[in-house]
Amino acid sequence: MKCLFAMNLLVVVLCALLCLSVWCSGQVTETDNIDASPMEEAEQAALYSAIQGFVGNWWNGSDLYPDPCGWTPIQGVSCDIFDGLWYVTSLSIGPIHDNSLACDPYMEFRPQLFELRHLKTLSFFSCFISPNNHPVTIPSNNWERFAASLESLEFRMNPGLVGQVPSSFGGLTKLQSLVLLENGLSGELPGNFGNLTSLKRLVLAGNRFNGRIPDRFGGLSQLLILDLSRNLLSGSLPLTFGGMTSILKLDLSNNQLEGSLPSGFSYLKNLTLLDLRNNKFSGGLSKSLEEMYSLEEMVLSNNPIGGDLQGLEWHNLKNLVVLDLSNLGLIGEIPESIVGLKRLRFLGLSNNGLTGNLSPRLAELPCLSTLYLHGNNLTGELQLPESFYGKLGWRFGAWNNPNLCYPIGLISTGRVPFGVRPCQEGERG
Ligand SMILES: *[C@@H]1O[C@H](CO)[C@@H](O)[C@H](O)[C@H]1NC(C)=O
Ligand SMILES: *[C@@H]1O[C@H](CO)[C@@H](O)[C@H](O)[C@H]1NC(C)=O
Ligand SMILES: *[C@@H]1O[C@H](CO)[C@@H](O)[C@H](O)[C@H]1NC(C)=O
Ligand SMILES: *[C@@H]1O[C@H](CO)[C@@H](O)[C@H](O)[C@H]1NC(C)=O
Repeated sequence: MKCLFAMNLLVVVLCALLCLSVWCSGQVTETDNIDASPMEEAEQAALYSAIQGFVGNWWNGSDLYPDPCGWTPIQGVSCDIFDGLWYVTSLSIGPIHDNSLACDPYMEFRPQLFELRHLKTLSFFSCFISPNNHPVTIPSNNWERFAASLESLEFRMNPGLVGQVPSSFGGLTKLQSLVLLENGLSGELPGNFGNLTSLKRLVLAGNRFNGRIPDRFGGLSQLLILDLSRNLLSGSLPLTFGGMTSILKLDLSNNQLEGSLPSGFSYLKNLTLLDLRNNKFSGGLSKSLEEMYSLEEMVLSNNPIGGDLQGLEWHNLKNLVVLDLSNLGLIGEIPESIVGLKRLRFLGLSNNGLTGNLSPRLAELPCLSTLYLHGNNLTGELQLPESFYGKLGWRFGAWNNPNLCYPIGLISTGRVPFGVRPCQEGERG
């Protein structure tokens, strides 16, 4: 019985080995025949060559991935079927996953890339990384060949990607998402990006783009996200900005933009984020701000905007959660209408020239967890309830207001605002 069992086992093992060797030797012919996903030879060759250009000549696609849209998928490549044949629709280069296609330091854009005629998505992540040893520029030609197909183009975290953006990107009229984030790109923004009227997302943050924001950006009426932050953009905002009527997020922070805030802001009714911090805007808080009813975050800090807080109907901005108006050169009093912003969590008014008494009604804001008032010229006795200091703790900043004091009775509670002195006898209002 035992012996028979052993015999059976041997047969099974032998058979398994035999099957495996047949299967393995059959591998090559199988791809050439029925089981492979049918592809045009030119499409397949273009894919191999394009990838080889990026990852290095050691990479032999036809050896490693004989059936790239079928049973030997390449990490970062997706395919779809058109008229019975398979085509590459998505190509991502760069170390996203462990087994992703990583770039060779001496990589190149091969013309074959542009032969992938159904490509919808092309992305490069952390691929061009040596700005000094091997800087790479985006080729200026051939992009028009993607005009009918490309919907998403992304270059993310490529410090070695330098030079200008080719103006031929302006012909990619199917693009819905163009992300050029944290590369070494420079020069002016091409005005013909204004032709990309299908764009929903335009992210050019973290490069060295300079010059004005082109007027024609205002024509991007489908745009939901515009992020031009962390560049060297200068000049005033185009008056056409009000044309971006769908926009949800507008981030222009950390540039050198100047001039007044355009009246066209009042058309941006769906905007939830407006971040203009760290620029050189001036001309006071525009009335147009109060008409952006959807706004949840308004961050304008560190701009020589000037003016006061009285001119705006703050209670219109009922959705505001974050309001940062620090270091704007504001003068005058803090209007009580701010108490109408019931969702407010963060209110930053520090480092301005604000004067007058602080309304104790600020304590009525139910969600407020941070209130920065330091570095102003507020005066008189703080009349916020003791529980308010307890709730905010260190996130209540009122130091550097030389004429501000807290009621002496607070001392016994241990909840005294940091950097503020107790009121003297007879010091009130
Ligand atoms: C890949 O290897 C095959 C042989 O295995 C060779 O014929 C072919 O030329 C190679 N392709 C490239 C692009 O190096
Ligand atoms: C962009 O559109 C303008 C007209 O609005 C046209 O003259 C120009 O040729 C277009 N540019 C590109 C690159 O398509
Ligand atoms: C604003 O948002 C609303 C609701 O999400 C939507 O119905 C409307 O079309 C948007 N407006 C624009 C101009 O996109
Ligand atoms: C602060 O206000 C007081 C009067 O309330 C004024 O005398 C003083 O000059 C102001 N200080 C600054 C730095 O503006």
